[in-house]
Amino acid sequence: MNIIRLTALATGLLAINAFAAEAGGAPGGNVAALAAPCAACHGADGNATAAIYPRLAGQYRDYLAQALREYRSGARQNAIMAGFAKTLSDADIKALSEHFASMPGKLDDLSHYEQGD
Ligand code: HEC
Repeated sequence: MNIIRLTALATGLLAINAFAAEAGGAPGGNVAALAAPCAACHGADGNATAAIYPRLAGQYRDYLAQALREYRSGARQNAIMAGFAKTLSDADIKALSEHFASMPGKLDDLSHYEQGD
């Protein structure tokens, strides 16, 4: 392992530690602190900052929890989400899922699209 990889590893571990500390020690932590890093992509209102990020607001709570558990276990693979999900306890996942599910959502189906659009 060369020095650049070691530095990258150490930086990553520091970031995870800082994230875990920010999230708080209590089971479930403070949901606002837990959800703060998610806002960069999923939006402070849960409706995503760009079209490439899924909207979480108003999504089914069980769906969100299942997705987070699967990112954590590796059953659902995504490099970005794996890094976040690995830091989450079961109580954190429950709190985050309830938080985003309870927000006003802009989820939509595709019924107004013509086939082929
Ligand atoms: C750097 C951007 C980024 C951050 C920060 C981020 N996510 Fe994600 N998230 C993504 C991307 C990209 C996907 C889609 C991954 C895929 O294709 O599976 C995703 C997917 C998800 C999904 C599945 C949504 C669905 O409709 O299937 C959930 C749930 C989720 N993120 C929750 C969170 C939570 C909770 C946090 C904060 C702890 C967070 N994300 C932080 C980028 C991010």
